[in-house]
Amino acid sequence: MSAKERPEPGVRTPVAKPVPPPGPVLTRRVFILGGFWSSMLLAAVGVLGAPLDFVWPRRRAADFGGELIVPADQVPPPGSEPVRFPTGRFYLSHLSPGQEGSPGGVLAIYQKCTHLGCTVPWRPDFQFQDETGWFRCPCHGSTYTKGAAILVFGPAPRPLDLLDVQVKENGDLVVNTGAITKGSPENPLRAVPYGAAASPGAAPPAAGPRFAADGDTFDLGVVPVGETVERSIEFRNAGDAPLAVSILKVRPAPDAACGCGVEGFRVEPASVPAGGNGRLLFDLKAPEGMESMTDKMVAELESNDPAKPTLTITLIFMMGP
Ligand code: FES
Repeated sequence: MSAKERPEPGVRTPVAKPVPPPGPVLTRRVFILGGFWSSMLLAAVGVLGAPLDFVWPRRRAADFGGELIVPADQVPPPGSEPVRFPTGRFYLSHLSPGQEGSPGGVLAIYQKCTHLGCTVPWRPDFQFQDETGWFRCPCHGSTYTKGAAILVFGPAPRPLDLLDVQVKENGDLVVNTGAITKGSPENPLRAVPYGAAASPGAAPPAAGPRFAADGDTFDLGVVPVGETVERSIEFRNAGDAPLAVSILKVRPAPDAACGCGVEGFRVEPASVPAGGNGRLLFDLKAPEGMESMTDKMVAELESNDPAKPTLTITLIFMMGP
């Protein structure tokens, strides 16, 4: 190189950058192995997903684990069906005196099956041992009684568990869903006195079966013409023994406009436990041409209440368009 071609001092020569080494290469073998293990992972999720979902603890609902207030007007009557409170995960049962050997009172029944933890539904239509209405677990069939959730069938090791219940002065209940007592055959004895049972001075229920209803004349509302509808009248058993009521017949009242419209009648249940409720049911259908008329019928009842072996009630309804 002649002096003329030599770079002048102070002129910088560009510096070559190193080429990075080649990255990992996706070979055919790696590709096949990747596909194999991905398939295995998906299969494992498919097989184990459902069982894991079943046993994995759920996030707590906002109201579960703490105290939940049940207003007095949501406490079911004694002897009636249990009522579910989903956020607290329990059923509220109100036992009448003598029911399942209980002195009477309220129980908050935890809905979790004592076998493997499935949620146990109340099945009002489920028939077992000649009775209708049970708690029945859908997973393996454990079956528990209506009032105190006593185990009568299935693989569960014990009755349903109970939650702590306190009664406030105004009749509201405080259910502590974080205080759980293991279920046992003693469940009926753990019922917390409520209502009349909680008032030591209150009059005890009358001896024997006792029919009680809110009056003897009932407005059944509007009955559409040409359409059969069902109407019901509630009654109670205010006594301390099972009450049987039946409807003998329904006839026109002396001042009836038509004396028609009642197509059928029945009583449910056939036997009402002490402190429980029953219903008189009527199938009504207004005949054509009777629109806007008010009709009046008399139902003749008989019962095993020694004070009311027979009685009548009056039904009033308007035949609508
Ligand atoms: S989980 Fe209820 S019977 Fe098995």
